[in-house]
This record gives sequence, C-alpha cells and structure tokens, in this order.
Amino acid sequence: MLACAVILAKVNILGYWWENPMPYQQTPKGLKSIRAEDCGVCHVEIYREWKTSTHAHALKDLQFQAEMAKSPKTSWLCLNCHTPLLNQVENVAVDVRNRSASDPVLTKNPRADAVLRNEAVTCAVCHVKDGYVVGPYGNTGAPHPTMRDEKLLTVDTCAACHQATAAYTDTLVCTFDTAAEWKESPYAKQGRGCSSCHMPAVNRPLVAGGPVRTTRRHSFGGGMIPKTPGQPATGNRSGLTVEILTASRNANSLNIPVRLKNAYAGHKLPTGDPERHIRIEVDLINDGKVMETRSLRIGQQWEWWPKARRIADTRLKPLQERTETLKFAAGKASPRTRIRVTVTNVRMTEEAAKFHHLTGKYPLEAQVQRFERALIVSPATQSREQSGLK
Ligand code: HEC
Ligand code: HEC
Ligand code: HEC
Ligand code: HEC
Ligand code: HEC
Repeated sequence: MLACAVILAKVNILGYWWENPMPYQQTPKGLKSIRAEDCGVCHVEIYREWKTSTHAHALKDLQFQAEMAKSPKTSWLCLNCHTPLLNQVENVAVDVRNRSASDPVLTKNPRADAVLRNEAVTCAVCHVKDGYVVGPYGNTGAPHPTMRDEKLLTVDTCAACHQATAAYTDTLVCTFDTAAEWKESPYAKQGRGCSSCHMPAVNRPLVAGGPVRTTRRHSFGGGMIPKTPGQPATGNRSGLTVEILTASRNANSLNIPVRLKNAYAGHKLPTGDPERHIRIEVDLINDGKVMETRSLRIGQQWEWWPKARRIADTRLKPLQERTETLKFAAGKASPRTRIRVTVTNVRMTEEAAKFHHLTGKYPLEAQVQRFERALIVSPATQSREQSGLK
C-alpha cells in the first residue's frame, strides 16, 4: 500500500516537466523494441546520421558525466532531459524532501532498459507515443502503426528541452533560452522552425527499396565543437559573418573596423549553454609573419558564486550586426600588409576544463572559419600621414 503510494508520487518543486521523466512508452506492434539500434535495422541512413549527433551522446558526454559526478544529488534532474523517457531512467525520483532538488527520494525502476538509456535523446523520445510511431506523413505502408503528428512538426518538439530558464537555488540554475530567442526573430514570422536549419530536407527513401520522399537529415549539427579529440568541426555552417572594413590611421594607431553579423543562426549567437562563446582573432601579417593580433569575444559572462547572475551579454540576435574597431600599432602596416581572420567556437575555458578534470580528453573549441585578405587603408588618412600632417 505504502510502496504503491510512493511510486505514484510526482515531483513538484517549481512545476517544470523535467522534474519527472517523460511517460513510459510501450513498444508499438510489429517492432522488437523502441531502441534506436532496432529502428536502425530498417531506417539505416537516418540511424547513421542520428548516431553522429550530440543527441546520441547526451549521456556519455564527458562534461555531462563530470558535472553529474560533482553533484550526484541533483543528477536525477539532469537525466530527465538527457535520458528523458521513463523507460530509460534507472533510479526514478518519485518525490523530494523539503521541496529541495538535492534531496530526492529515489526508487529503482524495474522497467529501465540500459541500452535505451545509453542512446540518450533516442528516436522514441520524439517518435513513439501511445503505441504509435508518429511522423510527418501518417499514411505510409510501415510495418508499425503510424500516425501523423502536427506537434512533432513544430518548434515545441525542440523547445521541450532547448527552452529552460529556472532557478532551483542560488547556484543551481538552467539558462537555455533558445526557443524564446527564436520566437522574437524574423524566422518565427516566416514559420521557419528549428528543423528548417538543423534538419535540412533531402529526397530519399525512408527504407531500402521504399518510395522517395522528402525527408530530413537527423545529424542535428549545432555549434560544431566535436565531442572526441581530433575530430574536425562539421555538421553545420558558422552563423557568423565577419567583414573587414576600410581601415584608417592616425599618429598613434591603425584602426580596423570589423563588422560582425549573426547572418545564419535563428537565435542568439551563440545560444544555449552559458559558457559557450565565440572568439574572433584578427592578425596583421607582413611577409607571412604575424605582427600583431587583436581579438573579440561574443558570448555571455556569468558569475556563479555566491549567486548565479549574468554580468555581461555581447551575443548577436538573429540578423543583428555590430561594428567594432580594433586598434593596432600605427607603424606596423605596409602596403603589403594582409589581414587574417580566425573564428573559433568555444565550449568552455581551459580553467573550467581543469575544474572538471577534462584537460586533454575533451575538445574545448573548434575553428569554424579562417580567411585572409589585403589590408585596405583609407587614402585620406594615409596621405595625411604621409604628408606629415596630423
Ligand atoms: C522492420 C522495419 C522497420 C522498423 C524496425 C522501423 N520502421 Fe519505421 N518505417 C518502416 C517503413 C517500411 C516505413 C514506411 C516507409 C515508406 O512508406 O516510405 C516506416 C515509416 C516510419 C516513419 C514515418 C511515419 C509517418 O507515417 O509519418 C517514421 C517516423 C518511422 N518509421 C520511425 C521509426 C522508428 C522511430 C522506429 C523504431 C522505434 C522504426 N520506425 C522502426 C520500417 C521500419
Ligand atoms: C529530450 C530533450 C531534447 C529534445 C526534445 C531535443 N533536444 Fe536537442 N539537445 C538535447 C541535449 C541534452 C543536447 C546536448 C547533448 C550534449 O551536448 O551532450 C542537444 C543538442 C542539440 C544540438 C547540438 C548542439 C551542439 O552545438 O552540438 C542541436 C542543433 C539540437 N539539439 C537541436 C534540436 C532540435 C532541432 C530539436 C527538435 C527537433 C531538438 N534538439 C530536440 C536535448 C534535446
Ligand atoms: C529530437 C527529435 C528527433 C529524434 C531524436 C529523431 N527524430 Fe526522426 N524526426 C524528427 C522530426 C521533427 C521529424 C519531422 C521533420 C519534418 O518533416 O519537418 C522527423 C522525421 C523522421 C522520419 C520521417 C522522414 C523524415 O526524415 O522526415 C523518420 C523515418 C524518422 N524521423 C526516423 C527517426 C529515427 C529512426 C530516429 C532515431 C535513429 C529519429 N528519427 C530520431 C525528430 C526526431
Ligand atoms: C535560420 C536557421 C536556424 C534556425 C531557425 C535555428 N537555428 Fe540553431 N543554429 C543555426 C546555426 C547556423 C548555428 C551555428 C551557430 C554557430 O555556432 O556559428 C546554430 C546553432 C545552434 C545550437 C548550438 C549552440 C550555438 O549557438 O552554436 C543549438 C543548441 C541550436 N542551434 C538549437 C536550435 C533550436 C532549438 C532552434 C529552434 C528553437 C534553432 N536552433 C533554430 C541556425 C538556426
Ligand atoms: C530542460 C532540459 C535540460 C536539463 C534539465 C538539463 N539539461 Fe543539459 N542540456 C540540455 C540541452 C538542450 C543542451 C544543449 C544546449 C546547447 O548546446 O545549446 C544541454 C547540454 C548540456 C551539456 C553540454 C554543454 C556543451 O556546451 O556542449 C552539459 C555538460 C549538460 N547539458 C549538463 C547538464 C547537467 C549537469 C544538468 C543538471 C544539473 C543538465 N544538463 C540539465 C538540456 C537540459
């Protein structure tokens, strides 16, 4: 009687869905299981794409594991988003004591499937509901029951996890604002949701020998920072454009205006995890040698202790542009001087990596753009200096 009541209890601290796992899903008729590896027997290409996505690695992720090990008492909350189905959760929080996120009442879940758990944000999270496989068509000749699901095709599917702003304690806060940033953007007005960019359309059969349909890539390319050392930055385009405008000079400095634009991201650049930022390095090069380097950082800055708060935010909204002027030493430029721009997406600083014991094991950043061009200095400022006028 008591055990039954405990299992039925529901966590309710601030009332967000991830305080409880997503509902248990039965295997739809005709299928062996709801594991991605079993879907992949027929949906070979989509499975292969999903396998490369960060969704498939959201549990094994070394930073995630390190953070859970540092705060094991609150990890149940994290797992409800990173391994969200009740079928995946080994120890379910059925209640909390004192309305505290770090004091859960955990119960062993006899129905948990360890293989499915390792698949993290697996196919079934988005596709299996009440004995049906939900999809965009609803009238295919599938060996499993299918149903068209309008909700699957909206931003809500992604916002469930990519929109979370909540403060449990002064230092335990969630700050993913991606869907809200998108909602304010011109893309929302055009009806271009997350999948229009993160799941590009491709015509192909869903299964070998099936009819060719308009389908979507499932690799979910994002900020392009790989999870394994040595992997290149792939899977998406950089959201940023960098333009070097005509420089000017005075007696003390060579001033190079740099125009930054969030040209391609449907949300702030960068979005999501608050530690993510972008470093833009501008090198002044003479005869192949770097004479001087200046850099810009776009991103958020947080103070985590004693109370988490954002102290700066230089991110670019969708389509927003901003020009920043970099000052170099005036004497360093010659008519042969070239400018080199390098854009690097950064997941976390060296310092944070050291804190999590991740140094050398986990890629902290990825170079996403590099180009070089001649330095152009405005003739007006050039000749004034050459003629000795100040
Ligand atoms: C035995 C092979 C097989 C397995 C296993 C399988 N499918 Fe399918 N699935 C198909 C076929 C065949 C179709 C229809 C193809 C067509 O008509 O283009 C289909 C259709 C679909 C559709 C489109 C549904 C619609 O009508 O919009 C989705 C989504 C889908 N499958 C997801 C899954 C998922 C998720 C799994 C694992 C839980 C899975 N499938 C397992 C063979 C399979
Ligand atoms: C059940 C929760 C959940 C849902 C639903 C979800 N995501 Fe994610 N997503 C995650 C998690 C967790 C990660 C990060 C995994 C990691 O880094 O280990 C992630 C990562 C991503 C990334 C990669 C970020 C990067 O830089 O590597 C993209 C892009 C993305 N998701 C897009 C989407 C889109 C588009 C949808 C909707 C179709 C969606 N997600 C639905 C939880 C979810
Ligand atoms: C984060 C959510 C998410 C995950 C995880 C996911 N899908 Fe999808 N899938 C979608 C969405 C959204 C669509 C519909 C896209 C559209 O048509 O706008 C889709 C469409 C499909 C379709 C129909 C064809 C197409 O590409 O539009 C199939 C089949 C499919 N998914 C199979 C799978 C399989 C198999 C897996 C796991 C290996 C998987 N999906 C994982 C969100 C997801
Ligand atoms: C107009 C296209 C577009 C739309 C719409 C869009 N994104 Fe993105 N997204 C991008 C691009 C481009 C990047 C790569 C930005 C970069 O790092 O340079 C990106 C990056 C990301 C990242 C990785 C973090 C980062 O800033 O690099 C996540 C997570 C993400 N998007 C989730 C979403 C979700 C969730 C939605 C819907 C609410 C969405 N995106 C809508 C284009 C888009
Ligand atoms: C509401 C759902 C949700 C909850 C709860 C959640 N996460 Fe995540 N997590 C995400 C999403 C979505 C992403 C991908 C965001 C992005 O890259 O912009 C992510 C990404 C991450 C990453 C990868 C960051 C990176 O830059 O690659 C780590 C590590 C992580 N989460 C740890 C945690 C920990 C630890 C907890 C518990 C304290 C937690 N998460 C709780 C949704 C969630």
